[in-house]
Amino acid sequence: MTQLLAIGASNSKNSINKAFAAYSARQLPESIVTTLDLNDFEMPLYSVDRESATGIPAQAKLFFEAIQKSDAIVISFAEHNGSYSAAFKNLLDWTSRIDQKLWQNKPMLLLATSPGGRGGATVLESAKQTFPHLGAKVIGSFALPSYYEKFSVEKGLLDPQLNESFQKEWKLFADQLN
Ligand SMILES: Cc1cc2nc3c(=O)[nH]c(=O)nc-3n(C[C@H](O)[C@H](O)[C@H](O)COP(=O)(O)O)c2cc1C
Repeated sequence: MTQLLAIGASNSKNSINKAFAAYSARQLPESIVTTLDLNDFEMPLYSVDRESATGIPAQAKLFFEAIQKSDAIVISFAEHNGSYSAAFKNLLDWTSRIDQKLWQNKPMLLLATSPGGRGGATVLESAKQTFPHLGAKVIGSFALPSYYEKFSVEKGLLDPQLNESFQKEWKLFADQLN
């Protein structure tokens, strides 16, 4: 059984990115999916002074361990003003202080979605460029625009063309795990 970690890079209670990451991870047969809630990893805002004074919080260590225990990761990014949500960036910064290669060479499918017409394409592009430097083995990526019109948790992607593009990226990722 493949241990998959699904992460919505948002701290919204009803995060559409958490739903999309979990949906995508669940498509893999013979896998056990663990979906993380970023609210369980809330920490003070990163600062070098805070790190010198009190060290790295336990939540960052738990996040690092969750990555370590997984075989592969599906992450979907909320886009806030063209970038990561503050909640995710804080978690990323703290965890990178344990090991800059925090993604530990795990195969990753990078996703993003938003209610808007670009679906978080800007934050996704940024992650595609920087994650390899953070130890990620990026296998595929996909941004889903107009989430509320184009996606249903029960039926998946409702637009055939978008679905085709998504399936292509998803298959690249799934093939990597066989
Ligand atoms: C502060 C803030 C900034 C946002 N900036 C963007 C943006 O740059 N691009 C975008 O597509 N949506 C943007 N949105 C809308 C988010 O895509 C939307 O809130 C989405 O539901 C976030 O994903 P989540 O539900 O997983 O948290 C923004 C929302 C907030 C609250």
